[in-house]
Amino acid sequence: MSTLDVTSTGSGGDPRLAVRIAGIALPNPTVLASGILGMSASSCGFAVAHGAGAVTFKSCGLEPRGGHPCPAVVPYEHGLLNAIGLSNPGAERMAEEIAQFRSRFEVPVFASIFGRTVDEFGTVAAIVAGGRPDLIEVNVSCPNVESEFGTPFGLDPGLTAAITRVVKKAAKDIPVAIKLSPQAHGIGRLARTCQDAGADAITAINTVGPGMIIDPELRRPVLSNRVGGLSGGAILPVAVRCVYEIASQVTIPIIGTGGVSRAEHALQLVLAGATAVGIGSGVREGGDAVFSSVCRGLSAYLDRHGLDCLETVRGAAHA
Ligand SMILES: Cc1cc2nc3c(=O)[nH]c(=O)nc-3n(C[C@H](O)[C@H](O)[C@H](O)COP(=O)(O)O)c2cc1C
Repeated sequence: MSTLDVTSTGSGGDPRLAVRIAGIALPNPTVLASGILGMSASSCGFAVAHGAGAVTFKSCGLEPRGGHPCPAVVPYEHGLLNAIGLSNPGAERMAEEIAQFRSRFEVPVFASIFGRTVDEFGTVAAIVAGGRPDLIEVNVSCPNVESEFGTPFGLDPGLTAAITRVVKKAAKDIPVAIKLSPQAHGIGRLARTCQDAGADAITAINTVGPGMIIDPELRRPVLSNRVGGLSGGAILPVAVRCVYEIASQVTIPIIGTGGVSRAEHALQLVLAGATAVGIGSGVREGGDAVFSSVCRGLSAYLDRHGLDCLETVRGAAHA
């Protein structure tokens, strides 16, 4: 057995941190966000070894895809700017990696998919479903992939609802989460549309932007794609606002994502209404240990306030 073949211990076994997303039991609310480490069973295993309560694989499409040339990720003082371009090995290969992950680790695993048309989302969902992920997350919000009509799918409520229905059908018994963009106009209403179309959960948010960083010496944009999506600490207030708006419109669980590297960040998302908390850039900023350190901080918060479980304070900021 490899040193990575471990069950999540990030909550230190603190049962007060256990949560459920669409019937899936997570030992703690931290979730490795899509696109960070999640290309293979082994790389996702690092997050498990360091306490993640669930892992999300990188988004995959129908065919393998190369993505944008380097530099595709640039760090700056307050986060990251990226235009990876959805590089991935294709849905067939991803299904194999997910199946392998399931055979090695006990922590829930989420697939993430994208498509170029509404129907293609269904085709990709059916393929990754073969790897038996615990949940399929639908990336309708990538700033680098546009619909045939020239806008990201996730900005159009009609297309988002159609994708939700198609993926739900293809996923059969596997729960489906729709991942929304902070650029969506009326994100709460859009989440409600997804719920009405059958979504089992909402993930919010994807990256913010696009933004640009210019190298003053080179006098040109740093990213090869010139523009990219912003993530990390800078976007936490946007994520908190989005989760707050979504929570006021839906009853399905929310995986709040964006800018989390410490327990107090995760708590803001939970107080806004998130059931679980995605961590992406925080892995780069704080290392894999970010999952266990966030969990320790959450346990300390429960101790300090004499609370039985994290669930007690979910959505408390709405009062
Ligand atoms: C390098 C990088 C790659 C990403 N790739 C994906 C992806 O493939 N699919 C997806 O849904 N989100 C992707 N994201 C977005 C993250 O999953 C997350 O929603 C976003 O970065 C906000 O969370 P964070 O501030 O914790 O990073 C990516 C983010 C980064 C930084």
